[in-house]
Amino acid sequence: MKFVKIAGLGKYLPSKRLLNSDLEKMVDTSDEWIIARTGIEERRIAEKGVGASGLAYKASQIALERAGIDPQDLDLIIVATITPDTQFPSTACYLQDYLKAKKAVCFDMSAACAGFVYALVNAWQLIRGGLYKNALVVGSEVLSTITDWEDRSTCVLFGDGAGAAVLTESTEPGFLSAYLGSDGSQTDILNMPGGGSRNPISSEVIDNRMNYMKMKGNEIFKIAVRIMVQAANKALVKANLDKSSIDMLIPHQANQRIISAVAKRLSIPKDKIYLNIARYGNMSSASSAVALCEAWEDKKIHKDSIVVLDAFGGGLVWGSCVIKWV
Ligand code: UT7
Repeated sequence: MKFVKIAGLGKYLPSKRLLNSDLEKMVDTSDEWIIARTGIEERRIAEKGVGASGLAYKASQIALERAGIDPQDLDLIIVATITPDTQFPSTACYLQDYLKAKKAVCFDMSAACAGFVYALVNAWQLIRGGLYKNALVVGSEVLSTITDWEDRSTCVLFGDGAGAAVLTESTEPGFLSAYLGSDGSQTDILNMPGGGSRNPISSEVIDNRMNYMKMKGNEIFKIAVRIMVQAANKALVKANLDKSSIDMLIPHQANQRIISAVAKRLSIPKDKIYLNIARYGNMSSASSAVALCEAWEDKKIHKDSIVVLDAFGGGLVWGSCVIKWV
């Protein structure tokens, strides 16, 4: 079995900022409510017509350059997204074309907010098993296209962005462990009911606003804290590590109160948790990817740092992975 490491990280955030004060003009909400309940101050919005592949391309170019890997040497591209450019072909195929990564095998990963962690684990295992050498893993979302801008309970939460990681073979580990989980009995608490094969796009779907995300926020909140703590602990046990060995926790950025509750239960001090929810809101699969990239850019991750990613989302799905920075 091969060892695998992250060789380069990149991110891209659209320049358009949507402030809480802008939302105050759109729905019955307030800056105070949004900050107190979520920690979000602003989010980014992609230009009309720019798909997940467009954001992914910009993040990927940076990650590849930092990794010193030519796109032509990529064996694998996985894009985690719930806002693909089209139902098919996959966003990963569009990205392959932009990058001219001709020999790469490409597919999308549908695991909502845990998508980047799921995709990392898949790429790690495919390199580990010797099938591929170089992989590009991206979390990219244009959530603004599936957000109901008339629903104050969800529209204040989400934003657009992309983060990318290049994974390669390594002489030392690298990826130490992972724990993934799913619970398909909870599909009703976070979903987008329209636009798929069950309710294809129709005037009825649009009239009933079924082509937007629906969420029972309260229910998810309680489950999220418990599940994220459990996932991180299980991944750490698999890596033969204790929670005290975490140098940087990269949690999914859904709600600052969720992150604080998770940190408290894991006894992790504030300076060991990366937070960017105030600036970007919840970007689903892109949240962990961008947060990981920024933690590295901010020099909060060094050689030998133990980094733990911890995410959950609609499905329900969740996952944590432990990486030693080499
Ligand atoms: O990314 C993956 C999964 N997603 C999540 O993890 C999200 C998890 N859930 C949450 O983050 C929180 O549940 C929310 C931020 C979505 C909501 O916060 P909450 O503290 O759970 O509020 P709530 O839903 O219990 O609503 C409390 C009150 C309600 O009013 P009443 O019934 O008490 O009069 C809501 O109608 O706040 C009201 N409310 C708002 N008020 C102002 C809901 N949204 C808003 C809003 N502005 N945007």
